[in-house]
Amino acid sequence: MAGLLLYCRSGFESDVANEVQDKASAIEVYGYPQTKLHSGFVLFNCYQPEQAELLAKKLSFEHLIFARQMFACQGIIENMDVADRVTPILAAFENFPLCGELRVEYADTTDGRELSKFCRKISVPLRQTLRKRNKLTNKENASKPVAHIFFTTSDKAYVGYSFSNNNSALPLGILRLKFPHAAPSRSTLKLDEAFQTFIPKEEHGIRLQGGLQAVDLGACPGGWTYQLVQRGMFVQAVDNGAMDQALMETGQVTYCPEDGFKFQPKKNNVYWLVCDMIEQPQRVAKLMATWVAEERCKEAMFNLKLPMKKRYESMQGALLIIQQVMHSAQVKKYQLQAKHLYHNREEVTVHLRLM
Ligand SMILES: C[S@@+](CC[C@H](N)C(=O)[O-])C[C@H]1O[C@@H](n2cnc3c(N)ncnc32)[C@H](O)[C@@H]1O
Repeated sequence: MAGLLLYCRSGFESDVANEVQDKASAIEVYGYPQTKLHSGFVLFNCYQPEQAELLAKKLSFEHLIFARQMFACQGIIENMDVADRVTPILAAFENFPLCGELRVEYADTTDGRELSKFCRKISVPLRQTLRKRNKLTNKENASKPVAHIFFTTSDKAYVGYSFSNNNSALPLGILRLKFPHAAPSRSTLKLDEAFQTFIPKEEHGIRLQGGLQAVDLGACPGGWTYQLVQRGMFVQAVDNGAMDQALMETGQVTYCPEDGFKFQPKKNNVYWLVCDMIEQPQRVAKLMATWVAEERCKEAMFNLKLPMKKRYESMQGALLIIQQVMHSAQVKKYQLQAKHLYHNREEVTVHLRLM
């Protein structure tokens, strides 16, 4: 058995399966996904096992919407002797390249999280043994592949490796953030994660700098506006609801009780457009793309609320609308990214930027 193992939020397994099947066949790697609802992962089995590594290299992780992490899975070890798990795992590493990091992981589910302590404990002898056998560099090396051991129970694990230029740098593919107590809603974490995911850290100083003008459509009570204000930006907060009083007192927020679909900014110097309106994804996608195509803003960050079923198809539809708007406006250079972030639930965050 060899394929690609992908992690996701519990309940999104079939969306990952549809996406990986579609995108793998586009690069001529064929196989079939194995899913179990609420398992928090998907295994895509390759018909030609030697293509698993190719898939882990060529399937762009950055462009996967629903996967948090992926690795070329070289095998599954079952019925491990609880007194010696190291020997069979070591045997599975036989044909692995030299790795620069080891991650012993589990699914982000109730059952999976119960394995977290065990995974932390076992990673110590595993790391030592792999180093002794020259399967792991003595010091962590970010340019080498990452070895993954993904336990589903304490005697069963999938083993493989990912490539550091085409994976998530985060353990379990999860960005953990602390809720800022002054923020008016938990939604604030979604925009924080989106900025940290889509904007390279070294560009924060320019693209997220204080003084920039922003528009927040569907702003109330102000969790997203809070993120912009914290970074020193000036925000036009558009919503008929009530804004958090402390945010208004900063003097950086202008409250606009209007319809986000009709709102026109007073000045032409908007850098960020953010939008969290609960509306049909196609409608929001068209609005966002129109703002960017007409250069009413430089970058847009927005959430698309997804239907319960066929979420991948729904996302494809929304992304196509964006591409069509950009094409009609003859915008050739733009960046479009979409990710089901850790803090998202039934929604995907999209970033659109004029280049
Ligand atoms: C999920 S909440 C936004 C939460 C906000 N991002 C936060 O962090 O606190 C969605 C908001 O969109 C607003 N909304 C929905 N449709 C709208 C529209 N057409 N124009 C303006 N606001 C709208 C609602 O009033 C609601 O406050």
